Amino acid sequence: MLIQDIIRRKRDAETLDADAIHAFMRGVADGSVGDAQIGAFAMAVVLNGMTREEAIALTEATRDSGQVLRWHDLHLDGPVLDKHSTGGVGDLVSLVLGPWIAACGGHVPMISGRGLGHTGGTLDKLEAIPGYDVTPDDDLFRRLVKDVGVAIIGQTGTLAPADKRLYGVRDVTATVESLPLIVASILGKKLACGLDTLVMDVKVGNGAFMPTPDASRELAEAIVAIGSGAGTPTSVLLTDMNQPLADCAGNALEVHEALRLLRGDGRNKEVRGDGRNKELRGDGHDSRLYQVTHALATEMLVQAGLAADAADAATRLETALASGEALERFSRMVHGLGGPSDLAERPEHYLASAPFTTDVVAPRAGTVNAIDTRALGLGVVELGGGRRNAGDAIDHRVGLSRIAGLGQRVERGQPLLRLHAASRAEADAVSRRLREAFTLGEPGHAVPPALIHATLR
Ligand code: URA
Repeated sequence: MLIQDIIRRKRDAETLDADAIHAFMRGVADGSVGDAQIGAFAMAVVLNGMTREEAIALTEATRDSGQVLRWHDLHLDGPVLDKHSTGGVGDLVSLVLGPWIAACGGHVPMISGRGLGHTGGTLDKLEAIPGYDVTPDDDLFRRLVKDVGVAIIGQTGTLAPADKRLYGVRDVTATVESLPLIVASILGKKLACGLDTLVMDVKVGNGAFMPTPDASRELAEAIVAIGSGAGTPTSVLLTDMNQPLADCAGNALEVHEALRLLRGDGRNKEVRGDGRNKELRGDGHDSRLYQVTHALATEMLVQAGLAADAADAATRLETALASGEALERFSRMVHGLGGPSDLAERPEHYLASAPFTTDVVAPRAGTVNAIDTRALGLGVVELGGGRRNAGDAIDHRVGLSRIAGLGQRVERGQPLLRLHAASRAEADAVSRRLREAFTLGEPGHAVPPALIHATLR
């Protein structure tokens, strides 16, 4: 099959059969298809789209372009399952969810990514823990998934290698924005992990990867159809990203927050705001994070057959948290991957804190009616908590905490957030932009959006 003929057919808006798509992606993986051909193909897909069947074939071809993990030889005592998020700010769900699911009998081989644009990355957060190795060998990874039930590590060169090349070319040829290409890229990598089931967290709002709520919904629908079409039951929760999910953002700060949640301290009895959003923010604990993590965990347990229904899942999750089992799984994973064995007992000892902290305060009294979530994420990057260029070193100490939430009343001079910076100068450079990320107005003018917009199965 001639590669230029496959490109020509897509250019002319013909429908490609699965054989043609597999042949193209095999060539991407083995290097016989050149970058120019990849770029031309990607542009043809952007302009002409793909049918559902083509998108399923592209996802399967991405998955099959390298090693596909198999688990049956390990005789696991539970299903292999995972969650993936399209990324956000203060989104540390994975750190909590993986060990929590493991404590409920699941096996979670979580291949995570680094920060991208304004969003944080799970690997960057974990690397705030001294010694944590995100690139263990295969044997260790498999052993942890079997014995501990969870291992969160980085992308290996052998999983879905075609995506690495295709994504690299898309990045520089203005061809990232295509639904079938995005879905095949995300799902191809995830399904190469040999999952029985997958739950995706697709973010909606001004801190989300997709530019509009409609685009997020379209992505969610495509993920459900294509994931399930490729043989892995997949569901999606559309969750809100019109404000940071936790009340902190920044690598070490988010590990602290994960530990707090795993200790059971993320639950807050105090209910504020309107009933629709059940905004649970107070005395430093961000229960929106708890709620989203809990909802995703519930979906995972029920979907994989580890719980009979949502009520059963809630009981199991509660037990796993209250017994300390979820925290124990996190600790064993961290230690198994080279981190300290007593991180949970002495986090302050291991997680470096920033040398300079200052509060960014409200210029006037008002209610927080809008938050530019992307601006907060970019603020963390500017402080050094993310990368401006690929390969940049990260300062794990910096970030934001005590971030005021939507609907919260602040008086003039009261903090909107606390800034953790390497120096006063670094803090000064971003504080005005961070202050301007908050829109203060009259109470009740903006109804905080629902936390879970929808569940698609
Ligand atoms: N994330 C991915 O992994 N791939 C895409 O194409 C977009 C976001």
